[in-house]
Amino acid sequence: MNVKSDFFLDYIGKLRDRGVDLNYLAEKYGTPLYFIDGNVVKQNYENLRNAIHEVYDKFLICYAYKANTCIALLKLLNSLGAGAEVVSGGELYAAKLAGVPMDKVVFDGVSKSPGELSYAVFEGVLLINIENIDELYWINKFAEEFNIKVSVGVRVNFDIPTKTHSNISTGARIHKFGLNVENAFKAYSLASKLSHVHVAGIHVHIGSQITDIQPYSMVVDKVLSFCTELKKLLGLELEIIDLGGGFGIPYSIEDSVFPLNDYCKVIEKLEHASKEIFTSQPLLIIEPGRFIVGNAGILLTRVNYVKENYGVKWVLVDAGMNDLIRPALYGAHHPIYNLSSNEDIEIYNVGGPVCESSDVFGFDVKLNRVKRGDLLAIMNAGAYGFSMSSNYNSRPRPAVIMYYDGEVKLVRRRESYADLFSHEIF
Ligand code: LLP
Repeated sequence: MNVKSDFFLDYIGKLRDRGVDLNYLAEKYGTPLYFIDGNVVKQNYENLRNAIHEVYDKFLICYAYKANTCIALLKLLNSLGAGAEVVSGGELYAAKLAGVPMDKVVFDGVSKSPGELSYAVFEGVLLINIENIDELYWINKFAEEFNIKVSVGVRVNFDIPTKTHSNISTGARIHKFGLNVENAFKAYSLASKLSHVHVAGIHVHIGSQITDIQPYSMVVDKVLSFCTELKKLLGLELEIIDLGGGFGIPYSIEDSVFPLNDYCKVIEKLEHASKEIFTSQPLLIIEPGRFIVGNAGILLTRVNYVKENYGVKWVLVDAGMNDLIRPALYGAHHPIYNLSSNEDIEIYNVGGPVCESSDVFGFDVKLNRVKRGDLLAIMNAGAYGFSMSSNYNSRPRPAVIMYYDGEVKLVRRRESYADLFSHEIF
C-alpha cells in the first residue's frame, strides 16, 4: 500500500494548505489534543441534507448527540439547521446549552428514567420515542401535571440483522432495543387511549457503522406495511417516520463509502409509497451521528517512547484508551500518521499509557520512522472519541480545539488534576 496517496493523508495536506498547522497547534495547546474540523462537519451535514432534499420534502436531520457533544460543535450544527437526537437528560441539557429549539429535539433511549421523561416532557421536545409500554404511563402522568399533550413514537424492533460489529448492531430480535411488532401494536393502542399522549411516530434504528443498503431497504418496507396495518386495525395515521442513523464511514482506504445515492433511492421509495398510506406526507427524521462528525476529528498525540520488545517495535504515546476507546472496545481501526517525520516507513505497534494490554491504537502500523517527541495523528476520531472518553487511570481528559472558517478556537479546556477529584467529598 502506498501510504502517501491515501485520502486521510491528502486531508492533512489540505489542512496545511488552509493554514492549519497541526504541529503548531499541538505545541500551543499540548497533547493529547482533539481537533475538530467544523468545515468538514458542515460539508458532511450539507451533503446529506442536499441529497435527502432531492427525494423528500419534509425532513429533519436530528444529529445523534452521543457521537460528540462538544457544545461548540452542537452550536455549529444548530446554526446549520440540524435538530438533535438525545438519549439522556444530559444530552437534552446539552441541546439547551447549544440553543436548539425544542421542537427539533427527539428523545430516544431504551431505559429512560422517570426523571428524564419528566424533563423531556417539561421541555416540550418534538417527539419521545418509547421502547417500553410502561413509559407511556409516565409520560401521560407528567404531561397531565404540566397540562400539555406529548407526541410519542414507538421504536419497533423488526428483527433486522446488520453486518456490523456485534456491539453496535441494535435491530435484531436478540437486542434489548425497541418493541416487537405485537407489543408495538399494544403500545400504540394504549397510547391512543391516554388523555395527554399524542400518537405521532414510528422509530427504527438498526445499528451503527452500516455500509450496505439492504437493511435500510428492509426497514422501509417493514415500516410501510406496519403503518398500513396500524391504520387498518387501529385507525391510526402516523405523522413522523424516524429511521434512525447508522450510516458508516470508511476507517481505512480499503473501506467502502456509505452509498448515499442508494439510501436516497430507499427514501424515494418511502416517498412514493407513503402517498398511498398517508393523507399528508409524514415528517421524515434521520439521526446520523458518525456520518456528520466521524471524519471531522483527529486525536493528536505525542510519542513518549520508542522501544523494541521481543522483535516488535512499540511506539508509546501520551493518549490512551481513556481518550479513544474504540480500538480497545471494538477492535476498531483508526488510521495513524507521523506528522513529524518523512523518513522511511517502518512497522510499529502504537500503545498508550494505560495499564491494560488493550490500550493499543494499532498493531503493525506503517509509520514514517518514529522517534521520541514525534507527533502522531489518529484519524477519524470525531465520532465516539471524546464522547466515550473517561478518566480511567486518573487521566485528565484532553483539550478540544475547533477549526471553522479560517479560525482555530479552544472549545474545551484540558482537565486538570484538581478537576479529577472535584466531586470527591473527603
Ligand atoms: N439513533 C440511535 C437511537 C442510536 O442509538 C444511535 C447510535 C444513533 C442514532 C447514531 O448512530 P450513528 O449514525 O452514529 O451510527 N460507540 C459506537 C457506536 C454506538 C452507536 C450507538 N447508537 C462506536 O464507536 O462505533
